[in-house]
Amino acid sequence: MAASRPAKVTAAAPAAAAVPLLSIVGLSAWYGELRAIWDVSLDIHAGDVLAIIGANGAGKSTLLKSITGLMNRGAAAHTRGRVELGGRRLDALDTGQIVDAGVTLVPEGRRLFARMSVEDNLLAGAFLPRVRPLAQRRLAEMYRLFPKLAERRLQVVSQMSGGEQQMVAIARALMSQPRLVLFDELSLGLAPAVVDDIYRKVAEIHAQGTTCVIVEQDMKRALAVANRVCVMLEGAIVLEGTPATLSEAQITAAYFGTER
Ligand SMILES: Nc1ncnc2c1ncn2[C@@H]1O[C@H](COP(=O)(O)OP(=O)(O)OP(=O)(O)O)[C@@H](O)[C@H]1O
Ligand SMILES: [Mg+2]
Repeated sequence: MAASRPAKVTAAAPAAAAVPLLSIVGLSAWYGELRAIWDVSLDIHAGDVLAIIGANGAGKSTLLKSITGLMNRGAAAHTRGRVELGGRRLDALDTGQIVDAGVTLVPEGRRLFARMSVEDNLLAGAFLPRVRPLAQRRLAEMYRLFPKLAERRLQVVSQMSGGEQQMVAIARALMSQPRLVLFDELSLGLAPAVVDDIYRKVAEIHAQGTTCVIVEQDMKRALAVANRVCVMLEGAIVLEGTPATLSEAQITAAYFGTER
């Protein structure tokens, strides 16, 4: 990888003095010797739906893993920089503590407990002491949000379709009642009608007050739902703005790194 990164272009004026919900300052991340994130700074405000787009290997998943403590695994993977939620440092915490603070990840590939039921997967999202007393209430709320999961609550997850499994993964992440939820590859591999359904759910989740970050291959879908967008290229954010202020050509050029 090159030693210098392209500079970030910000198309929209930054939001006036509002305190961000999540603030990332000078974040870098490594897998051993490989530096996957280069000095990323980004503010996410309460109520945002932020779309992060970028080609394969651009560093999208690594950024989400860095926010959620999954890169703090000793020498094999590590980060440098600050991540703060409402002014509280997250970057030295482990994943459980970060979930407890209010940030959860719906990971790429879902990472469900395939041989367990829907309900046991959801309850696994409520393992923290803060959340455990809320588990039954949250379960009922998740079944209201996803009636299909209520019908299938005792079904083993491996016997479900990709779309259903994605709903289980989303509901599991929401069990801890996060303030911020990060969706990695929200619609990858799902049929268009299923994707419509998933996006309707995300809109509902957002309307209920949860701030959302969506990593998405499908640029059009992401831009349709987001109020902010950033494009990653080779481990850096190279373009940031709103879907209203950025043209598709600008975004595409940033995605492929053809405009410097
Ligand atoms: N576990 C790992 N060990 C070593 N290198 C990794 C690991 N995971 C990712 N990388 C490398 O880090 C860089 C960023 O990868 P990352 O998975 O964050 O990209 P991405 O934007 O999520 O890509 P995709 O669209 O394919 O999911 C790539 O060069 C990738 O090869
Ligand atoms: Mg990824």
